[in-house]
Amino acid sequence: MCGIIGYLGPKKISSILIEGLKKLEYRGYDSAGLAVVNKGKLEIRRVKGKISNLEEIIRMSPIDGNYGIGHTRWATHGRPSEENAHPHRDCSETIVVVHNGIIENYLDLKKELLEKGHIFRTETDTEVIAHLIEENFEKNLEIAVQKAVKKLGGVFAFAVISSKDPEKIVTAKKGPPAIIGLGSDEYFVSSDLAPILGHTKDVIFLDDEEIAVIDKNGVQFMNFQGKTLSKKIDTITWDPIMVEKGGFKHFMLKEIFEQPRALRETLMGRISLDTGKIYLDEINLSPDFLRKISRINIIACGTSYHAGLVGKYFLENLTHIPVEVDYSSEYRYRDFILEKNQLNIIISQSGETADTLAALRIIKKNKGKTLSICNMKGSTATREADGVIYTHAGPEIGVASTKTFTTQLMALMLFSLYLAQVKNRFKKNEILTYFQELQRIPHKIESILYQSSKIENLAQKYFHYTDFLYLGRWVNFPIALEGALKLKEISYIHAEGYPAGEMKHGPIALIEEKMPTVAIAPKDRVYEKMLSNISEVKTRNGIVLAVAWEEDKEIREKVDEIIYIPSSHPLFTPFLTVIPLQLFAYYIGLKRGADVDQPRNLAKSVTVE
Ligand code: F6R
Repeated sequence: MCGIIGYLGPKKISSILIEGLKKLEYRGYDSAGLAVVNKGKLEIRRVKGKISNLEEIIRMSPIDGNYGIGHTRWATHGRPSEENAHPHRDCSETIVVVHNGIIENYLDLKKELLEKGHIFRTETDTEVIAHLIEENFEKNLEIAVQKAVKKLGGVFAFAVISSKDPEKIVTAKKGPPAIIGLGSDEYFVSSDLAPILGHTKDVIFLDDEEIAVIDKNGVQFMNFQGKTLSKKIDTITWDPIMVEKGGFKHFMLKEIFEQPRALRETLMGRISLDTGKIYLDEINLSPDFLRKISRINIIACGTSYHAGLVGKYFLENLTHIPVEVDYSSEYRYRDFILEKNQLNIIISQSGETADTLAALRIIKKNKGKTLSICNMKGSTATREADGVIYTHAGPEIGVASTKTFTTQLMALMLFSLYLAQVKNRFKKNEILTYFQELQRIPHKIESILYQSSKIENLAQKYFHYTDFLYLGRWVNFPIALEGALKLKEISYIHAEGYPAGEMKHGPIALIEEKMPTVAIAPKDRVYEKMLSNISEVKTRNGIVLAVAWEEDKEIREKVDEIIYIPSSHPLFTPFLTVIPLQLFAYYIGLKRGADVDQPRNLAKSVTVE
């Protein structure tokens, strides 16, 4: 939640900070602000609402300088208002802070600081950071930060500037991400790569309990104890164009259409039809351990959790290893059992989701083996897990996950095949059939995307309904959950996903002509069962929109609307069935006038519990 940015260099400060904040806006959009030091004077602009409001304020009251910090907020402590917008100031108004995270002991600290005479102006937890730095400030900002961080509980990535120690940005991290960009005579701080990419590809990921000090001579790193560190420079290969809309009306639509490319890239170099082998270079799990795995636990949130549910079907089918899937937020509080030969798979697009990281850390503390499936290079999950499988989806800016979901499925399928191969579960050359099927998926998705106007027409017909039921079975049960989640978050329509067989145990009571049912019904092992469930809906005057295989004539008579997808190996259908559901949610959201890239109350990366 929240995005922080900082810049020191010769370019126009307000444009750099505003453009950067626009790229971070997916992280939160309740309020925004920036601060620069100009000719020794600290200037601040803050607004309630989106970056466009901030832009407007700056247009009316310009701001200048050669270094500054900015923030876009997803409110946790303190309602969204101008007063609670970052940057936050100390009493002397010479120190300002932007912060991502939560200071859990802020009430105790505030009490202490109030007793020492500090005056607070906001309801936020962040303001204590500014006062704590003020309390510890003598001459040097980084020393004051070093002293302050020792008292801060909870998680934080913050950047601070002060007119009393000018031409310097100090950043501290413990939890949420903080990346330093190294340009030529210019330096950046950011919560993610997007604002930096257009300026430089050389970055340094701060680790926990580290501080970066930027001034015009470069960047120095130290830990919270003050020990100087030498850090590795990473060169990022993502193209800056990836974070632009590229002619699409919304990032979400662009990202839906990017799925064939994202899947090809996630597959690239990882399978060989010549050797019949799978190459997952970074999993860091020995063949000996892989052979012994007796149980797998998958842990994730939201859409990544749905990918995990699909992964359970992939893994159980191909490896015959029992798999459990947990919500990260539940896992951390349950009495989990870690077996000796258990593998724990953490799925997270951002690699920064607080609950998922907490689960990862509990498992590591209990000596469990962990593998992360992640899209963000250098993110916390990738650094803390024993091994990683990257999804090469590229940056996903739309708040609703689309291309990262299908690439997570690809990573899970690759890992399932890999594990099955290590366990000698395939007959000679059998794996090649799977490889061929995998290679066909991007093309099949393209053929579904060609039907987008048909799906848009369906959205036109159904966008005024207020409730939807999504039904699926077996490997498409999680797709019913994902389809419903997409509709809810993008269009604010109430939607429920259900395993179709469970319908008779409750949800069937809801069926009537005002609640359409989306039935996912490829011709797989549960097809006949799905047809029965469809009949049950129809008999009760329900409307049915089906997702079915192209050659399926039988279903045509039984439903009101049909979206055809190409046939495939039954286990691979989730890659295809989810695509029309993403498009359907997008077009319905659009018709209802919703902000599809930045739905209300949401943020892309949930870095607080
Ligand atoms: C829904 C969505 C969220 C995320 C969830 C986990 O479209 O995007 O449900 O899937 O917040 O985020 P990551 O995968 O970054 O851990």
